[in-house]
Amino acid sequence: MTEKLVLAYSGGLDTSVAVRWLAVERGYQVIALTVDVGIGRDSAALEERALAAGAVAFRWVDARDDFIRYFAFPALAAGALYQGRYPLATALARPLIAKLMVDVAREEGAQAVSHGCTGKGNDQVRFDVSVQALAPDLRIVAPLREWDLRTREAEIEYAQKHNIPVPVTKESSYSVDENLWGRAIESGPLEDPWVEPPEEAFAWTRPVARTPEEPCYVEIGFQRGLPVSLDGADLDGVSLVQRLNELAGEHGIGRIDHLEDRLVGIKSREGYEAPAAVTLLAAHQALEQMTLSKSQLRLKASIAQEYAELIYNGLWFTGHHQDLASYIQSTQRHVTGTVRMRLHKGQATAVGTKSPRSLYAIALATYEKGDQYDQSAAEGFIHIWGLPVRVQAQAQLLAQPGDALRIAAPEQAAEE
Ligand code: ARG
Repeated sequence: MTEKLVLAYSGGLDTSVAVRWLAVERGYQVIALTVDVGIGRDSAALEERALAAGAVAFRWVDARDDFIRYFAFPALAAGALYQGRYPLATALARPLIAKLMVDVAREEGAQAVSHGCTGKGNDQVRFDVSVQALAPDLRIVAPLREWDLRTREAEIEYAQKHNIPVPVTKESSYSVDENLWGRAIESGPLEDPWVEPPEEAFAWTRPVARTPEEPCYVEIGFQRGLPVSLDGADLDGVSLVQRLNELAGEHGIGRIDHLEDRLVGIKSREGYEAPAAVTLLAAHQALEQMTLSKSQLRLKASIAQEYAELIYNGLWFTGHHQDLASYIQSTQRHVTGTVRMRLHKGQATAVGTKSPRSLYAIALATYEKGDQYDQSAAEGFIHIWGLPVRVQAQAQLLAQPGDALRIAAPEQAAEE
């Protein structure tokens, strides 16, 4: 009996060629599974293309709500940015797609799963590690790691030879992945890090030169760290993110040009568009600045980095993740309030913040009437704060000859 295999199918060049290759070269009954995480594609067209390429069945899962609820918003609450730049859209979707591949494989009684990732990227790691965690018995077949169609041209020729409908010409040189949290653009002209990303690479954001002259203001409401409203109107997560992608994209917000370190050791030039993610991250950070203490902010910033690495590195289904997520969730219990964002000329800037749980006390901060801060108490505080400084200065700093200005250049001082 021929074995069944579930292929994560995007309808792009790689997975369209993979359908036929898996069916003909490997003899599987291929079930093409498309997971809609906000991919902006039409299911009927994809179904037709998958079946034409040789799939025995096509499955479509609308996972947009799960993606926002269980992946994108937790990453937002964490403040996760890989290498301080990338909001992790692609990386966040992979474990969800892997989970759904496993679910569909169980429903269909499949023995194997497959994806269209190359052997040089991060996505193969995220898919494989997630599938291995959830379903160690399933075989993983990665055609791009095995076949000898080494270039896009070779794939296109294979497609043409076997009458596989693919949406590309030899000219379309970018590799694009998109979901609600962002759009990733790779290859083609971007491979030269000296070349400015061409305008044609972008689809969600306007170039700053063509954005409105007038700023746009939007008020984002948060409940316990989760965005729940725009301009006072309650919105579900998917609609809120879609709306912000349009609004902030109009103003050229969220274009990112990044020379990124892949998990597999390669430095890679990546372009991103993430208007909603960038705007929400800035708004959320402003609200945390108002509702978290200094020490909470400090530890949380390092947890955010750890969390971003974990997502990037494909370690979603781990105990380490559960532990970090518990901490992050706990930090969000008072992150409730509203942030007014100004969207203008490529920048999303928090210009107003309010919260029923604010730690900002005007009576302490003001230089006007009504000041409740006791300035005379500052003297005693400084006396104790500076105590070890005075002791050390007397015992060591002033006991040595030389200029106190040189404290930061010791080896220079030692040469003389
Ligand atoms: N470098 C990003 C990541 O590893 C994006 C990868 C996008 N994939 C693509 N086919 N363009 O998460």
